[in-house]
Amino acid sequence: MEHRTLGRTGRDVSVVGLGTWQLGADWGEVSSEDAAAVLEAAVESGVTFLDTADVYGDGRSEQTIAAFRRAHPGLDLTVATKMGRRLDQVPENYVMEHFRAWTDRSRRNLDVDTLDLVQLHCPPTAVVEDDAVYDALDTLVDEGVLAAYGVSVETCDQALAAIARPNVASVQIILNAFRLKPLDAVLPAAREAGVGIIARVPLASGLLSGRYTRETTFADDDHRTYNRHGEAFDVGETFSGVDFEVGVQAAQEFAALLPEGVTPAQAALAWVVAQDGVSTVIPGARNPEQARGNAAAADVVLDDEVLAGVRRIYDEHLRASVHPRW
Ligand SMILES: NC(=O)c1ccc[n+]([C@@H]2O[C@H](COP(=O)([O-])OP(=O)(O)OC[C@H]3O[C@@H](n4cnc5c(N)ncnc54)[C@H](OP(=O)(O)O)[C@@H]3O)[C@@H](O)[C@H]2O)c1
Repeated sequence: MEHRTLGRTGRDVSVVGLGTWQLGADWGEVSSEDAAAVLEAAVESGVTFLDTADVYGDGRSEQTIAAFRRAHPGLDLTVATKMGRRLDQVPENYVMEHFRAWTDRSRRNLDVDTLDLVQLHCPPTAVVEDDAVYDALDTLVDEGVLAAYGVSVETCDQALAAIARPNVASVQIILNAFRLKPLDAVLPAAREAGVGIIARVPLASGLLSGRYTRETTFADDDHRTYNRHGEAFDVGETFSGVDFEVGVQAAQEFAALLPEGVTPAQAALAWVVAQDGVSTVIPGARNPEQARGNAAAADVVLDDEVLAGVRRIYDEHLRASVHPRW
């Protein structure tokens, strides 16, 4: 598996990582055995970068990763977690006292003294622009609580504000064949600054796998049911903010572009990997088969016809609703 440097962390990570939101909650039930098997399959396939958060399953995702590491001592993994969503997302809550409490809890959950990378978990814009927030995070780095910090953002403007900060190591942003805006300014700015880009929601919550039809339904406790219109959190996190029926149609057109033998999910990941400035892409996987298939996407090369087709599909179906919003 190809490795790239994750921005100012200076760490080498696999170009295909693993998102572990699914190993916590919000995607219907995933058993502990299945969660462990997903990690096992991903790491066996060459994945060395895991993305988690303190709120995924209220710590269950972090604890699952810690148990996996204990069972496989000596593995060279980079684990990025996130903080900031255990309280209301108002600027007053992004202060040192809370940063300490949150990072101490993640250190316990992940069973480490120093966290590899902690990302602010989609905070309000005022937080992304607040000098005091970065001063506090610099202090935690100086103290050895974290090795590096980054920001997970919703919008391109937030990404640009974070990239402009001298010690932000990485920015996590939604980037996929249905979300092209980061290509305009965010990726060039990140490359220029040496900030890592962690591309999340690369399959548009599964839409780009081409498996869903207009009739597909999801469990009641799956965000693809309960956040379909942004009822619980930013609607951009669910199907990339694309209307489900429009997305099903666009995904069918995407699948039709592909040569024999390449699955739509792999092509969607290969498309992200091909974007200059991306450090790692973090598909979520619900079972070992998905995890293995996603890791194998690192070896898929797409031809110009597919790349041009992605632009056409985006312009025809998605640009008007997506581009102005995020
Ligand atoms: N605010 C934030 O910072 C934030 C927000 C969202 C996500 N994230 C991170 O980004 C990661 C990735 O995003 P995501 O999980 O939301 O969305 P995603 O990776 O775009 O989609 C994941 C879904 O795609 C389907 N899938 C995965 N691999 C597949 C394969 N090989 N073939 C067919 N279908 C496949 C599965 O759907 P089924 O469940 O239908 O099988 C899976 O649940 C998360 O796990 C999390 O770590 C961060």
